[in-house]
Amino acid sequence: MNDKFYITTPIYYPSNKFTLGNCYTTVICDAIARFNRFQGKDVFFLTGTDEHGQKISLSASKQGKSEKEYLDEMIADAKALWAMLGISYDKFIRTTDSYHEKSVQKIFKTLYDKGYIYKSEYEGLYCTPCESFWTESQLVDGKCPDCGREVIPQKEEAYFFKLSSFTDKLLTLYKENPQFLQPQSRVNEMINNFLKPGLSDLCVSRTSVKWGIPVDFDPKHTVYVWIDALTNYINALGYNSEDDSLFKKFWPANVHMVGKEIVRFHAIIWPALLMALDLPLPERIFAHGWMLFGGDKLSKSKTTGSVECIDPRILVPEYSADAVRYILLREIPFGSDGNYTTEIFLNRFNSDLVNNFGNLVSRTLSMLKKYFGSVVPKHYVAKETDDIELQANVLKETDNVFKVMKDFDVSKALISIFNIFSLANTYIQKVEPWTIAKDENQKERLSIVITNLLESIRIGTTLLASFLPECSGKVLEALNLDKNALFANLDNFYGIEEGKEILPIAILFPRLDINAEFEKLARIMAP
Ligand code: MSP
Repeated sequence: MNDKFYITTPIYYPSNKFTLGNCYTTVICDAIARFNRFQGKDVFFLTGTDEHGQKISLSASKQGKSEKEYLDEMIADAKALWAMLGISYDKFIRTTDSYHEKSVQKIFKTLYDKGYIYKSEYEGLYCTPCESFWTESQLVDGKCPDCGREVIPQKEEAYFFKLSSFTDKLLTLYKENPQFLQPQSRVNEMINNFLKPGLSDLCVSRTSVKWGIPVDFDPKHTVYVWIDALTNYINALGYNSEDDSLFKKFWPANVHMVGKEIVRFHAIIWPALLMALDLPLPERIFAHGWMLFGGDKLSKSKTTGSVECIDPRILVPEYSADAVRYILLREIPFGSDGNYTTEIFLNRFNSDLVNNFGNLVSRTLSMLKKYFGSVVPKHYVAKETDDIELQANVLKETDNVFKVMKDFDVSKALISIFNIFSLANTYIQKVEPWTIAKDENQKERLSIVITNLLESIRIGTTLLASFLPECSGKVLEALNLDKNALFANLDNFYGIEEGKEILPIAILFPRLDINAEFEKLARIMAP
C-alpha cells in the first residue's frame, strides 16, 4: 500500500478577504487530510495564496499600500482565519516566496529551451485605466467587467505555450485514465468543449503586467497567471531547489481539490505543463461545486448569489469552528452546488449538533453515571435482536464512511456518521434503558445496552474527528482512548475497556433560539 498522501487546495487570490466560499475548499481538504492521517498515512496538506497580477496591485493601491505591505496583511488575516477554523495544513505557499519565484523562472526557461514556449503577439481588448486585457466573452455589455469603461483592441508582444500540441495526448489521458478528473461529468465537459474542438496555444507572459515574476531571459515580460499559479503544487515541495526530498516523497499529488470554475486550468493546462516538463501527473483532480448564498436574507449581494455572504470571522466565535465546518461539509452534496442560508445554518446546528449528537452524548453519560457510577460496565455478547441490530447497523454505516471517503465524498460521510448517532438515539427510545434498570434480573442486559451506546458514540465520534475536530476531541478525551490507534477498533463494539471511569463532559452545543440568533446576526452585520 502506498502510504503517502498529498492533497492541495487551490492557491487563493488575496485581492479580497477570504469568504465563507473560500473556506469550503479548505475545510474539505482539511477533513480529507485528517481522515488520511488517522488511517496512518504520511500526509502533506498544502494551501497558499496566488499573489501576482494586476488585481493585487489595484487592491493595494486602493488602500494606499505597497503590494508587499498589502499582501502581508492579507496573508496574516488568511492564516488567522485558517487557525480559527482548525485547518491543519502542513505548508502555506505564497507565490511571492523567493523559492517559488526562482523555480517559476527556471520552469519558464526549461519550457522555452525545449521549444514549448515561443514569442509572438497577444491580441485582446484592453481597458487602459485598469491596465487589463479581456476577451470578448468576459466583457459586460461590451465594456470592461471591472470598471465598466470602454475597451480597445490592442496588441502586445507575448510568449505562448504550445498547448495545442497536447490535444491528442490529453484525449488519450482521459480515455486511458477516466479517474483522473472527477466527477465524471467534468470529463465529458473537458472532452466535448475543449479537447475535441482542439486547443489553442496559451499566452504565458505579459509586458503590460508589472506585478509578476520577470522572465529572466527577457525581463520586460512577467510570467502570466498559470505557469506561476499551477507550479505552486510542485514548488512547495522543493522542485528545482537544493533540497527536493519532499518532492521526491510526495509528488505526484494524490488529489488537487478545486472549485468547478478552475477545472479547465487543472485538467488541461496543468497536465500539459507537466507532460512538457516530463513530470508525472497528479493521480486525481476533483472539481467540487459551489456554495451559493443568493437566498440568504443576510447576504450582502442577493442578486449575484455568489461570494458576498456572512463572514466566517463572525460565525466562528459565535457558534464554534465545528459548526461552520459542519455546514460547509454537510450542506453541499459533494460535487454539486448547495445553498447556504442563515436559517439552514441555525436549523442544522439545532437538529444535528444539539439534538442528535450532543443529546446522545449527554444522555448516555448521564445513564452511565446513574446506573454504573460512571464506570464502563462488563462486556457481554449481545443476544437480543435490538442490541445485535444496532451493532450491525452502526458497523454498516462505518463501512460506508470508508467507502465514500475513497471518493472524498465528505457530505455522504457525514450523513453516515450522523446516522450512527440517530440509530443510537432511536435505540434508546426503543429499548428504554430506564425500564431495564428497574429490573434486578436484567443487569447483564443493562450493561449491554449502555456499552452499545458508549461504543456507538466512540465509533461515531472517532469518525467525526476528521470533520469536527473540536467537539470530537472533547468526547474522545473523556473516553480516554489511545490517540494513536483511534481507527484500530472501528469494526467491533469492544473499544472502551471495561472498568474504566468516564467523567461527564460539559454540554457540547447549546440549543439555539433561532429567532433570537437571527436577529443578533442581522444586528452584527448591519452596516
Ligand atoms: N488563484 C486561483 C486558483 C489558482 S490554483 C493554481 C483562484 N483563486 S480564488 O481565490 O478565486 O478561488 C479559489 C477557490 O475558492 C475556488 O476554486 C473555489 O474552490 C473556492 N470558492 C470561492 N468561492 C466559492 C464558493 N462560494 N463555494 C465554493 N467554493 C468557492 O481561482
